[in-house]
Amino acid sequence: MENLISLVNNIQRACTALGDHGEESALPTLWDSLPAIAVVGGQSSGKSSVLESIVGKDFLPRGSGIVTRRPLVLQLHKIDEGREYAEFMHLPKKKFTDFAQVRKEIEDETDRETGRTKQISSVPIHLSIFSPNVVNLTLVDLPGLTKVAVDGQPESVVTDIENMVRAYIEKPNCIILAISPANQDLATSDAIKISREVDPKGERTFGVLTKIDLMDKGTNAVDILEGKSYKLQFPWIGVVNRSQADINKNVDMIAARHREREYFANTSEYKHLANRMGSEHLAKMMSKHLEHVIKSRIPGIQSLISKTITELETELGRLGKPIAADTGGKLYAIMEICRVFDQNYKEHLDGMRPGGEKI
Ligand code: GDP
Ligand code: NA
Ligand code: MG
Repeated sequence: MENLISLVNNIQRACTALGDHGEESALPTLWDSLPAIAVVGGQSSGKSSVLESIVGKDFLPRGSGIVTRRPLVLQLHKIDEGREYAEFMHLPKKKFTDFAQVRKEIEDETDRETGRTKQISSVPIHLSIFSPNVVNLTLVDLPGLTKVAVDGQPESVVTDIENMVRAYIEKPNCIILAISPANQDLATSDAIKISREVDPKGERTFGVLTKIDLMDKGTNAVDILEGKSYKLQFPWIGVVNRSQADINKNVDMIAARHREREYFANTSEYKHLANRMGSEHLAKMMSKHLEHVIKSRIPGIQSLISKTITELETELGRLGKPIAADTGGKLYAIMEICRVFDQNYKEHLDGMRPGGEKI
């Protein structure tokens, strides 16, 4: 199954790499049928922190105020061995092994598009991380929902961000990680408000409660975590990310995860929930869920891929000889990936009844 997710990941990567050219073919439809996970919530609710702990690496700009100003499409690729590295789509020849440099490049690339202001842009940054320590996932970090424009931002920024977020999460293939901070009333959660709009039954929304360590003394999050305050199809997951002070002190991810585990195991209110709390559990659950979604979609994805192969062949034929090496190469690469998918999963598909269940 690992392989299947990784294959889907590769198709997504190839579709993205093809960029504008892909818009003329069936690729956008293919892309839309592949699942991805988007992280939504209010500003400073902890979205980037949650993403980082899923990945298990420090590489995202984080902090108070509007830090994430462009969507970041992040693909995690599990590799068998070797040193982990990152690659940006806009810098295809450069391998990053220093993740502080990855963070810097995200900041710089954000500024290149928006200027050094607090403006936002819906043009995504594409980043891939290759590591033995990740699960195969595609994640999207989005600018935080906000209620007021701050200095330098146009008044429209509030609705601009909302529309940008909605454009990602309204697609039925999008799995929503709805981030709410525990130190604010859940009734005021931006994440819940917007995810309820696009997924009223909570069928593809995972509720994540951050900042449990910052709740007022005498209050706790048990009702929320047990699904009594706001019910979703999936169980709520509580996390404790690093505080700003931890970040300033360079507390590393391993130490932070260890502390998080201790927190849930040793706090009397949460002890009984400890085995389904925390960032590691969240990462595992997302991967498992993704597997499930992809499996259930294999037949649909497969027929789309067959269609894509045909269209790509036609397209290559139409482009004829003087085809840019770049474009041609990418098209062939995608066709190859699609073929592998087609061959490997035909068996799986053939073993299924039209209804989808295994014979
Ligand atoms: P984003 O704007 O939603 O992406 O939020 P960030 O991940 O940038 O986090 C905003 C601030 O909240 C940062 O200073 C984080 O250190 C802090 N923060 C996030 N989650 C937690 C948490 O669970 N506990 C504590 N104490 N601080 C957190
Ligand atoms: Na922030
Ligand atoms: Mg952020």
